[in-house]
Amino acid sequence: MTKSIPGPKAKAILKRGVSLFQNGLIFDDKLQQAAKRGFRPAGQVMVGKALGDYIWDVDGNKYIDFQNGWATNPLGNAHPEVIEAVHKAQQRYGFHYDHPLRYELAENITQITPNQALSRFTYEVSGTEAAESAFYMAMCYKKRRHVITFSSSFHGNSIGTKVFGGLNSRKYMEGWNGGAIIAPYPHSDFIPAGMTEKQYTDYCLHYLEYHIPDYIAAKDNIAAVMVEPGLAEGGNWIPTKEFLQGIRDICDRNDWLMIADEVLTGLGRTAKMWAVEHYDVTPDILVIGKNLSGGIEACAGVAARDEILGNNPDFSANSTFAGTPAGCAAGIKTLEIFKRDNIIDHAAQLAKIAKDVMKNWEEKYEIVRQIRLSGLLLGVSFQPPEDKKDDKSWWYARAVRSEMLYTGVWAISDREENIRMYPALNMDKKTFKEGLTIMESAIAKINRDGQDVGNSPAWPTGDAGF
Ligand SMILES: Cc1ncc(COP(=O)(O)O)c(C=O)c1O
Repeated sequence: MTKSIPGPKAKAILKRGVSLFQNGLIFDDKLQQAAKRGFRPAGQVMVGKALGDYIWDVDGNKYIDFQNGWATNPLGNAHPEVIEAVHKAQQRYGFHYDHPLRYELAENITQITPNQALSRFTYEVSGTEAAESAFYMAMCYKKRRHVITFSSSFHGNSIGTKVFGGLNSRKYMEGWNGGAIIAPYPHSDFIPAGMTEKQYTDYCLHYLEYHIPDYIAAKDNIAAVMVEPGLAEGGNWIPTKEFLQGIRDICDRNDWLMIADEVLTGLGRTAKMWAVEHYDVTPDILVIGKNLSGGIEACAGVAARDEILGNNPDFSANSTFAGTPAGCAAGIKTLEIFKRDNIIDHAAQLAKIAKDVMKNWEEKYEIVRQIRLSGLLLGVSFQPPEDKKDDKSWWYARAVRSEMLYTGVWAISDREENIRMYPALNMDKKTFKEGLTIMESAIAKINRDGQDVGNSPAWPTGDAGF
C-alpha cells in the first residue's frame, strides 16, 4: 500500500492549523496553485513519537531522523538521561532565576571554549536572543554603532537578527537598518561567472577590509564582524580556511571583534566541539544555542573574552527564562554525556561514513550539483539536468526529499535547492548508513525518472487536500 504523507491523522491536525496559524486565509489558494503546477506541497511530518534515531508520525509511519528538531537533538530524540536531569532540576528548583546550576553550566562551557579563551558567559533562551545579545555586547564594549554580517547568513528571526541576517526579508523594516552592514559571503552559489572561488574569496575579503570602511562606515565606528563558520540555513555550505582566517586577520588589523555564530555548528555538529577549530581561528565572542539544550530544554548564551563581558557596564541582555534550572540541567547533562561517551569521536566516525558514501554523488547523478560536508553538517544541492534547463533547481531538491520521506528518511528542504541533514551525533552507524542508502536511492530515482515523478500531485486533491 502506498503511504500518504501527510496521512489522515496528520491531515486532520494540519486542518486545525488553517484557522489558527499564519497564512490560513490563503492556504487553499497556495495548495491549488501548487497542484496546478503538478507538485504536491512539501510533505509535512506531524510528529507522533520521537525516540533515539527515529521519529514516528501520528499515522504511525517511521522515519530515520535526519531533521533532528532543526539540528537541536545532539544525543538523538528524547534522551532519557537528559530528561531525568531536567525533571530533577524542575522538581528541586521549579523556576527561579538564580540557582547553582547556572554557575555550574557557565563554568563547564567556558572550559571548553576555543583555546579556553572565552572565560565569561551570559545566558539567553534561544539562538536568536544569543546572537542579538552578541551584537549588542560588541557595540557596547567597543562603543561603536556598526556590526558587519554576511549575505547568506542567518542569525534568527527577531527584528535585530533579521536586520543583521543575509537571508531574512527586510520588507517594511527599512527604518530599522541603521547599524547593520551586510558583506558578501563567498558561497559557491553566488560566485560571479568567470571568477574562481579563490578570486571571489579574495574579493569578499577586500570588500570587508577596504570597501566598507571607504564607502559605508568609518573603520573606527565598526564594532565587530559576525560570521557563521559553516552556513546552516544558507544550505550547509562550508567556507574555506582562507576566508575564516582572513576575517580574523582583518579584525585584528582593524581593531574589530570577531564573533562566531555557532548556534548550529557548535557543540559537535561539525565533528569538532566548535567549527572554528577546523580553521585554527579563535573568535572574541561565541554564540551558542541548539545542542546546548540536549534536545530537551531550551538553553543558549554567549561566551566572550574576559574583558569584553567582564567590564561592559553599558551592555544589558537576558530575559526572564534565560538560564532556567531545567535548561542548565539539560546543558550540564549533555556536556557530561559528550565527554563520557566520546560523542565527538563518534560524530567524526559517522562523518567518515558520510564522506565515503557521498563522495561520488556529484559524478554519478546529473541532478546533484554539490556535496557539502563538514562533520555531520551535511548538505546536497541540486540542479536540473541538461535537457530540462528551464526547470527550477528546488523542484529537484523537493522531489528527492519527498521520495526520501516516502521511503523512510526525514530530511530538510525548506524552499531551497538544497537538502540538509543533521543526524544525531550519536546515531547508530548502521542506521546512519541505511539513511544515506535510502537517500541515494531517492536521488537515483529522481535522476532517472524526473522531478515530476517525485512531485506527483498525490496531495492535494479536491478540497485542498483535506
Ligand atoms: C547560525 C544560527 N544562528 C541563530 C539561529 C537562531 O536560533 P533559534 O532558532 O534558536 O532562535 C539559528 C537557527 O537556525 C542559526 O542557525
